[in-house]
Amino acid sequence: MTARNIDGKAIAQAFRAECAVRVGRLKDAGVVPGLAVVIVGDDPASKVYVRNKAKACEAIGVHSEVHAMSADTAQAHLLKFIATLNADDAIHGILVQLPLPKGIDSRAVIEAIAPEKDVDGFHYSNVGRLLVGEPAYYPCTPWGAMKMLEHESIAVEGKHAVVVGRSTIVGKPMALMLLNAGATVTVCHSKTRDLAAMTRQADILVAAVGKPRIITGDMVKLGAVVIDVGINRLPDGTLCGDVDYEAVRQIASRITPVPGGVGPMTIAMLLGNTVKAAELAAG
Ligand code: GUN
Repeated sequence: MTARNIDGKAIAQAFRAECAVRVGRLKDAGVVPGLAVVIVGDDPASKVYVRNKAKACEAIGVHSEVHAMSADTAQAHLLKFIATLNADDAIHGILVQLPLPKGIDSRAVIEAIAPEKDVDGFHYSNVGRLLVGEPAYYPCTPWGAMKMLEHESIAVEGKHAVVVGRSTIVGKPMALMLLNAGATVTVCHSKTRDLAAMTRQADILVAAVGKPRIITGDMVKLGAVVIDVGINRLPDGTLCGDVDYEAVRQIASRITPVPGGVGPMTIAMLLGNTVKAAELAAG
């Protein structure tokens, strides 16, 4: 068996085009969706992510503003600034790029964002809503992975989904979304005793660990759908996922490549959440 790729680039593009139509409708009603991105310090990877987010906004007519602050910014100053964004009617979404410099309590910062502007879906209010299965802003990366399954008409209900990784940003919300969609969910992590025995049971296998190619061919059931959330840079500068793509594509039925899989979906979902926030604010 050779797996068919799930083309995240194409799915993200189609989703962004839908977002652009919704932005057009909002503009006709006199509303310009606005996203504020706050970046503290000068982590090079974060700078690239933030630039890409701003560019993606511009491309579909969403107003975006990037607020760059120095690494020695006081937490109190950051919290005060978030309060001004919360009160700004031109801003519908607020995103504080993580990680934050040492000395700043990320949780306190996230909790300072108004839940209705929390387009990252990291606020306790949105996390709780996801747990309960209520509409909310969902974290963009796992939500993007769910959208890929939906777009490809891959049924989730009744399937055994195995999520490898238990991060707050990806693994845990991914497991909850799959659970809410009716899957039987197993979550594996660094303390899991026999990882391969677990992953081999997966109809849908999600790898979100951040370790290059830890999911090898012998860990995958024939015909499984494999979603690779990992983006790892190898010493030679090339990118690879958490899945050994060449080996696993011989066994899986569907697979997301890296790059060009889940990655492009993350920004698309951020745009979706921002447009949704503007629609809800517009009433
Ligand atoms: N850093 C890495 N991924 C993310 C993300 O999805 N949102 C934010 N705010 N920071 C990140």
